Amino acid sequence: MTINAIEAQGLGKTVQDVSGLLTILDDINVTINAGETVAITGPSGSGKSTLLGLLAGLDTPTQGRVRLFDIDLFALDEDGRARLRAEKIGFVFQSFQLLPHLTALENVLLPLELSGRRPNGATPLAAATELLQRVGLGDRLHHYPKTLSGGEQQRVALARAFVARPPILLADEPTGSLDANTGAAVIDLMFELNREAGSTLVLVTHDPAIASRCQRRIALQGGRLLSG
Ligand SMILES: Nc1ncnc2c1ncn2[C@@H]1O[C@H](COP(=O)(O)OP(=O)(O)O)[C@@H](O)[C@H]1O
Ligand SMILES: [Mg+2]
Repeated sequence: MTINAIEAQGLGKTVQDVSGLLTILDDINVTINAGETVAITGPSGSGKSTLLGLLAGLDTPTQGRVRLFDIDLFALDEDGRARLRAEKIGFVFQSFQLLPHLTALENVLLPLELSGRRPNGATPLAAATELLQRVGLGDRLHHYPKTLSGGEQQRVALARAFVARPPILLADEPTGSLDANTGAAVIDLMFELNREAGSTLVLVTHDPAIASRCQRRIALQGGRLLSG
């Protein structure tokens, strides 16, 4: 049986701009199965980050709806969406969004504390440490974000997104700040974790080589879906 992890129906976003109504996303219809890997591609400004934010309920649409595992995301209030997000979603932001006053380890511990999830029965400390080791930051556990390079922060952000083994991982250009070797290692790890945990992986990327590793590619142009 196929389970729909994510279902967007007639999803749209318009904003009021000085020159009138600006359409950022228009009539997006897409269904993503549990366990599937999907790449979202498209030129800069085509609406990729906006779409990812809507799928996570971080932003609200002006039309349409999103269902996560059959739960109507925007029928929930903000608290309800936050709870659903804590339970179901790991999100890697394009700009990392690490908490500056927490160390790498504390940033990665946070989702375990918020969700109460205990993957593989490990203690939060063991789970967070293990994942930071896997992203190559075993010797940076107690560093604050400002003392880490962009690529290191990116890897902390990935560890934080995945530590609670959410059934859905959404990643916005997760290799944008990494050199080719580190980028390849991070992508390998994302696919490895996806296989291990059977999670659904949706990633925004400009890199055709990364997109081609996903089972499906969805292309956006000017806020509309070209395929998928
Ligand atoms: N809150 C907003 N108000 C006005 N314009 C916005 C807002 N958010 C995004 N945009 C515009 O919508 C378009 C799509 O943005 P974005 O989703 O970030 O694109 P991408 O991630 O594909 O580069 C861009 O032209 C951007 O400037
Ligand atoms: Mg973007």
